Amino acid sequence: MKQEQRMIGHSLALSETLEQVTRLAPINRPVMILGERGTGKELIAERLHFLSQRWDEEFIKLNCAAFSENLLDAELFGHDSGAFTGATKSRAGVFERAHGGSLLLDELGTMDARVQEKLLRVIEYGELTRLGGQQARSVDVRLITSTNENLEQAMDEGRFRADLIDRLTFAVIHVPPLRERKDDIPDLADHFAMKMAIELGHEQFSGFSSTAMEQLMDWHWPGNIRELKNTIERSVALNDDPSEPVEHILLDPLRKPNTGSTSASTEGNTKLELPEQIDFQQHIAEYEQAVVYQIFRRQQGNQQTTADALGLTYHQLRAWFKRHNIQPKNWVRPKNA
Ligand SMILES: Nc1ncnc2c1ncn2[C@@H]1O[C@H](COP(=O)(O)OP(=O)(O)O)[C@@H](O)[C@H]1O
Ligand SMILES: [Mg+2]
Repeated sequence: MKQEQRMIGHSLALSETLEQVTRLAPINRPVMILGERGTGKELIAERLHFLSQRWDEEFIKLNCAAFSENLLDAELFGHDSGAFTGATKSRAGVFERAHGGSLLLDELGTMDARVQEKLLRVIEYGELTRLGGQQARSVDVRLITSTNENLEQAMDEGRFRADLIDRLTFAVIHVPPLRERKDDIPDLADHFAMKMAIELGHEQFSGFSSTAMEQLMDWHWPGNIRELKNTIERSVALNDDPSEPVEHILLDPLRKPNTGSTSASTEGNTKLELPEQIDFQQHIAEYEQAVVYQIFRRQQGNQQTTADALGLTYHQLRAWFKRHNIQPKNWVRPKNA
């Protein structure tokens, strides 16, 4: 078996990341991959596996966010028959199935204390017990984790054990966001466009107009490479004449037509209804809170992605919360939001 998908791009940032991957791949220790959504964390994990001595053994991925805490235990460590209602047969978990190979735990977020405890044990001693089981089983698995969550924050809030994080982060790979490696955009855009043109049965792909390429270079790509891929595929598919270069790039599909603004700022376009007299400071504060609250809700309360969506750093957002005396976890909908 070998890795099917090539990683496109020549930027310095990507090359440095890939070099780090090559160095870490043969070292039999846990690696954590950090990066925004859509930056290619899964591809990096595959590469770690296929460049290791385990390349012809199993590579298994599990998206942790897809499971409730109870089910996650069974998915990871397996269960014996009768472990819970509906568990008529016993079943191996991903750790047992990945024995000899590598396991990617994707979207590592919150895990209950018991699962964290079991994970720590399997890393330390290579030993697990299935849910509802007695017998300890040995496994040999190279563990790779990935997340776009701020784990420091999860640790501070007591949602993640510090000793587990220490074990998972023998090495950490930071995958840079696309806006920090814009040199990769033309290569990636051509690559995705060609593939789409082939899929559509077009006889040729005639490139992008210079305005279209400028637009691609100027956008900040909050959804990174996944967003770029979707945007390119949409633009190629909607290009009326495949013998002409792609001229129209629709960057934000959530944008309402004819407002000239992106979905993130449409709320700001409604006309202000102001009373005769206002307390300016308070009014501005309320307005800020309404804006941040809406984005915060849209990001399901994730402070890192909220900060990203607002164009702030995580620390700037934390400072903003502090200044406004807001506890994000108990934030009540402000008026106007
Ligand atoms: N360097 C790259 N070259 C080609 N395709 C890429 C590259 N990085 C990411 N992709 C593609 O972008 C999409 C998102 O990548 P993925 O690894 O799933 O991101 P993440 O796990 O960080 O959300 C996938 O379709 C992936 O194949
Ligand atoms: Mg992913």
